[in-house]
Amino acid sequence: MQKFRRIGILTSGGDAPGMNACYRAAARCCLARGIEVYGIYEGYKGLIYDNMKLVTSPMDVNNLISKSGTVLYTDRCVEFKTEEGMQKAIAVCKKNNIDGIIAIGGDGTFRGATDLSVRGIPTIGIPGTIDCDITATDYTIGFDTALNTVLSMVDRLRDTCESHARCDVVEVMGNWSGNIALYSGIAVGAIAIAIKELPFDEEKAIEDIKKARAAGKRSFIVIISEGLKGYAEPFAKRIQEQTGVETKFARLAHVQRGGTPTLKDRLVATKMGVEAVDQLLDGKSNIVICEVDGKITTCDIGKALRVDRLFKGKCTPEEIAAFDPEEKKWMDARCEKVLNDMKKLYDIAYEVK
Ligand code: F6P
Repeated sequence: MQKFRRIGILTSGGDAPGMNACYRAAARCCLARGIEVYGIYEGYKGLIYDNMKLVTSPMDVNNLISKSGTVLYTDRCVEFKTEEGMQKAIAVCKKNNIDGIIAIGGDGTFRGATDLSVRGIPTIGIPGTIDCDITATDYTIGFDTALNTVLSMVDRLRDTCESHARCDVVEVMGNWSGNIALYSGIAVGAIAIAIKELPFDEEKAIEDIKKARAAGKRSFIVIISEGLKGYAEPFAKRIQEQTGVETKFARLAHVQRGGTPTLKDRLVATKMGVEAVDQLLDGKSNIVICEVDGKITTCDIGKALRVDRLFKGKCTPEEIAAFDPEEKKWMDARCEKVLNDMKKLYDIAYEVK
């Protein structure tokens, strides 16, 4: 079994509340097992340019459990995608006695983790993104905090909509996933929710608003996922034209990525951070830590990336035809489960609108 001297921890891609809690947990877990840690700045870029901080005591990651953003900073490093960039990163790992990496982020981060793993640096991914858009896992760090941020923002919009008898069409984040829209839409009592994964009946939504207005309802919230590129703002105009209800448009954007992590995000971040260290020390590499049916588990990164591409409709027919039949069965079942879970929520949202 490999002896680990130092483990590097980095955050990469879009930041997410709870990334610091995860870094803290993984770092403290390493220290407790007699392994030093490098906190690597700005994701893979810090690995290429040797920009990192040695963590030798639990005090070095003190009070990070509640801290927003990522103290390690983040980046979407284009240079790391080149062979030259990767070789520079590997040379820096060797120079600094880094025997393994924990990379916290989304799908782009996991592609980088694979690149390191196959070049001899054992690397483990942890899902950290507000979008909850990694198909292999039910949960990603930051999702709950982002949802609570959306709730508090939209509740405020509701206040003013109610005063003025208006409708507000709110676009929430999620480039590749409607999860933020779906969960928050239910929790704010939206009259309609539109996401890219499931069909949306625009005419029905407009009729629902008309009927509810006729029954005396003053305020309306419509939640649209960012994934339906450019749909929300023109839809707000159509609602106003066709229902006569004055309608505003709001894009919540990056405010959703900030803020103090909620209990759930701190807890999941801590569990996943500890699991990543355990897995690495157990000789595992090229895996992503997942939460499935409430249990922390792992998935091969290649498999996780493939099922993700399949679910998001990014695979070519040639790619699909070349999938291993056993793995394809698992992928189909996973995609079906994820979509069914979304459908169930969508139906509930529709029932109680
Ligand atoms: O963190 C994920 C995400 O918020 C997406 O929903 C969004 O499209 C994207 O990041 C935007 O990130 P950035 O502006 O940092 O490129």
